[in-house]
Amino acid sequence: MTNGMTKDEMKRAVAEAALEYVQAGEVIGIGTGSTANAFIDALATIKHKIEGAVASSEATAKRLKERGIQVLELNETGDLSLYVDGADEATKHLHLVKGGGGALTREKIVAGASRKFICIADESKLVDVLGAFPLPIEVIPMARSFVARAIVRLGGEPVLREGLVTDNGNVILDVHGLKIMEPAKLEAELNNIPGVVTNGLFALRPADVLLLGTPTGVRKLT
Ligand code: A5P
Repeated sequence: MTNGMTKDEMKRAVAEAALEYVQAGEVIGIGTGSTANAFIDALATIKHKIEGAVASSEATAKRLKERGIQVLELNETGDLSLYVDGADEATKHLHLVKGGGGALTREKIVAGASRKFICIADESKLVDVLGAFPLPIEVIPMARSFVARAIVRLGGEPVLREGLVTDNGNVILDVHGLKIMEPAKLEAELNNIPGVVTNGLFALRPADVLLLGTPTGVRKLT
């Protein structure tokens, strides 16, 4: 609880605020996680206005279908006008760490295919410097140890996320101990290690709008 408002209530408030960006007849890209789930629930109230949605994970596709929202494939839709998703950490520059739910690769693909990315989160996600939340990296399974050694050379402490196989059949290394001063540079560096599919930094393609739930209402950062 924060001043009488729970985290769930803040997530619901930002999810509802994000509806403002939804235009009639559009296909909406949708992220993964509890805040994205709150957005799916909000979107269900206006589902007759939209054409459908592109999901960033199997879990999101399932929830969309359960709410009666048509799920479309990105290969069929072409570029999207809007992507809405949560984050594990965000800065005032709208750089993000994502992938706590393991869906970072598809999230980055759908965000990359969208003209506008609205990030929704409760205020606890706002940080000065990214990296306290371990940075998720999706890795091809046979490259796991090789990539881990390369990350150690970059100053990180990689930890295999036990028991998780991504929707793409890969594994996740969560990298601890990073203080990310140059997010775009590190994002590119990590993606250059052979065997890395994607890392959870969203700096080369940051959010366009960050809607933060606070006890006194929704704060908008652009
Ligand atoms: C999913 O892979 C992540 O990128 C999510 O966006 C992130 O974990 C946020 O989740 P919550 O909305 O549940 O905090």
